[in-house]
Amino acid sequence: MGKQIETFNSTICHLITAARSSATTAEKLDLLTTLAPQALAVKGCSLLLLDGENKKLIYAASHGLSERYLRKGLIEAEKSMPETTHGKVVKVKDAASDERLQFPELAQQEHIASIMGTPVTIRGTVAGSLRVYSRVSRDFSAAEENFLLTVAEVAGLILESGQMRRKESNALSQASIGLEKGHVLPVRDAVFAHQSEEEFAKLLDFYQIEWLYEPRSFPLKWEEGRITEMFTPDFYLPGLDLYIEVTTLKPELTRDKKRKVRRMHEVHPDVKIKLLARHEYDILLSKYGYGPLAGTKTRGAGQVLYSTERIQTRVRQLAEEISRGYEGQRPLLIGVMKGVFIFMADLMRYLTVPAEVDFMAISYYEVEKGGAVRVTKDLDINPEGRNVLLIEDIVDTGMTLSFILAYLRTRKPASLAVCTLFDKNVRRLADVELDYVGFAVPEEFIIGYGLDNREEYRNLPFVALLEHEQPPDQPPPNQQTE
Ligand code: IMP
Ligand code: MG
Repeated sequence: MGKQIETFNSTICHLITAARSSATTAEKLDLLTTLAPQALAVKGCSLLLLDGENKKLIYAASHGLSERYLRKGLIEAEKSMPETTHGKVVKVKDAASDERLQFPELAQQEHIASIMGTPVTIRGTVAGSLRVYSRVSRDFSAAEENFLLTVAEVAGLILESGQMRRKESNALSQASIGLEKGHVLPVRDAVFAHQSEEEFAKLLDFYQIEWLYEPRSFPLKWEEGRITEMFTPDFYLPGLDLYIEVTTLKPELTRDKKRKVRRMHEVHPDVKIKLLARHEYDILLSKYGYGPLAGTKTRGAGQVLYSTERIQTRVRQLAEEISRGYEGQRPLLIGVMKGVFIFMADLMRYLTVPAEVDFMAISYYEVEKGGAVRVTKDLDINPEGRNVLLIEDIVDTGMTLSFILAYLRTRKPASLAVCTLFDKNVRRLADVELDYVGFAVPEEFIIGYGLDNREEYRNLPFVALLEHEQPPDQPPPNQQTE
């Protein structure tokens, strides 16, 4: 028992230190939802924030919950442990049969047996709920309840200071505080008001652009301090921090929407919102290399797996992780030509630690005849005694990587770690350890963002499947590879 209290205290100290640090709101909340369940020895934790109308709950941060569980949809505040948003602590012992849960079957599939939830307040007003999830059915003690309440206080603090830092106008709803990039998952089972919206959502899905359907409402007019007109844009795209209102074909409606969007610009100048007419879809698509306006650049590219925004967000996160991992050091980044050049260029620009860069190249010689892999361009910078971070575009079988790692070890670096943007781990043959991974990719041939098919498609700003899903070519003898 004493041990538990000790853990609780040190966790709270840790979180308060983090809350006062210069980390982003998203990072602080991420840490909070990671450490709280650890201290309680439970499976996971989530922070849910109310939308502008206090009706729906949106995941702002979470740990230990599957993507599937998080994507179950916007949660109705009145259907999901409603007492928490009324300011009370709720303990659910048997999630599968408790009526206070909106999706008990999903909780069961997620192996959630018990849940404890507490309100999270911002300046005295309930803004959401902090929840912990246990795999085993259990009661939560008074000490555990107090701990969660304290963590929820810290969460409120983090949100408040985030709000102040960003000098958000009071019109920005509380839920939006948590909508930091990369922390909101798309809601796939939204109920759409119009067919065109559903089409648009499918389009966004196809291009892997994250979206939320009608996540919040904005007041447009007030009379005697009371809101008399509200506007709820159709979509919010967290990756672009952009609201989108899709126009229908009816001219009267379009006129009204235009008025509302104009009013939005006046009343909420900081909120990016765009009215999207049908013909504008094409313009949007062309940004991703598709549609009638895209020209012939992407001929042969199939479905987009990772959009430009998604890649950039992930690369930035990787750079943050790496910068933390190499704090106070000056790592030597080594890339293997050529596929990595675009990733390396982007990654380096997001690093906050000083870093050096070097490249090497290898060739496969008569692989089928028992030939060898050889270094064809060696390093310019001596890696001996350096903290070396090998940067890869994609690791497939792992054969290339294990060859390079073996080579680099002979050069006696002080440390050697690996970062790869893509990890095609289903085909892994060589046992290689990856320290930083961007995305786990399916067993399919992908192109773009430096990755090629016979030297083509490296320039695509996104990553897509090859249209006909051709298998990767065996590298011919004496050919320089990436
Ligand atoms: P490994 O030795 O099997 O791990 O292969 C790694 C190399 O194969 C990468 O550096 C790429 O050059 C290439 N590669 C593997 N999968 C793909 C892909 O899906 N698209 C493009 N190149 C790939
Ligand atoms: Mg490569």
